[in-house]
Amino acid sequence: MKSTADIRNLIREIPDFPKPGILFRDITTLLQNADGLKASIDLMAEQVVAHQPDCIVGIESRGFIFGMPLAYQLGLSFVPVRKPGKLPAAVHQVSYDLEYGQDSLEVHQDALSIGHRPLIVDDLLATGGTAAAAAQLVQKTGATIAGFSFVIELSDLNGRKKLPDDVPVTTLLSY
Ligand code: PRP
Ligand code: ADE
Repeated sequence: MKSTADIRNLIREIPDFPKPGILFRDITTLLQNADGLKASIDLMAEQVVAHQPDCIVGIESRGFIFGMPLAYQLGLSFVPVRKPGKLPAAVHQVSYDLEYGQDSLEVHQDALSIGHRPLIVDDLLATGGTAAAAAQLVQKTGATIAGFSFVIELSDLNGRKKLPDDVPVTTLLSY
């Protein structure tokens, strides 16, 4: 099986995308490699099993890419957290700041409730605004966050500081 060092080598860096000054960590080159993709999911699953999640919350859109296969691998259900106006039933909504802009996220009000233990999954933790917004959405439903799982953490941006203190965070790669 490929290691995290192999996975690191499969992630491409694109300077000044989508804005000047941003070094974009491009996961599409990892996705193009079947062994690298499989190892990413297998390693994420190994990291998070101890947190005993009972479902996966994936953040649109790159969080879907890793969250759904992780749910399948762990035998769990999947809850999409989506950009505004995409979910058809009643939603909770939270707005947040991005490394390069502003956005909102929504979750169906009836997707989670008290007693659920969702694991929040995304490809990348940068400023933490997106993951913190997803955490607020989960908390609005009454569910208890089991943990966060990311492929990549940009540690200089201190995204972890925006996440709840008492919730475990796992990442495959730190830059
Ligand atoms: C990217 C990435 C994370 C978020 C991380 O998503 O997939 O969700 O930014 O940044 P943050 O920690 O500073 O909030 P983006 O909003 O670009 O959307 P996408 O997944 O649809 O490409
Ligand atoms: N999302 C937020 N910051 C990012 C970065 N530097 N690379 C890829 N995705 C991102």
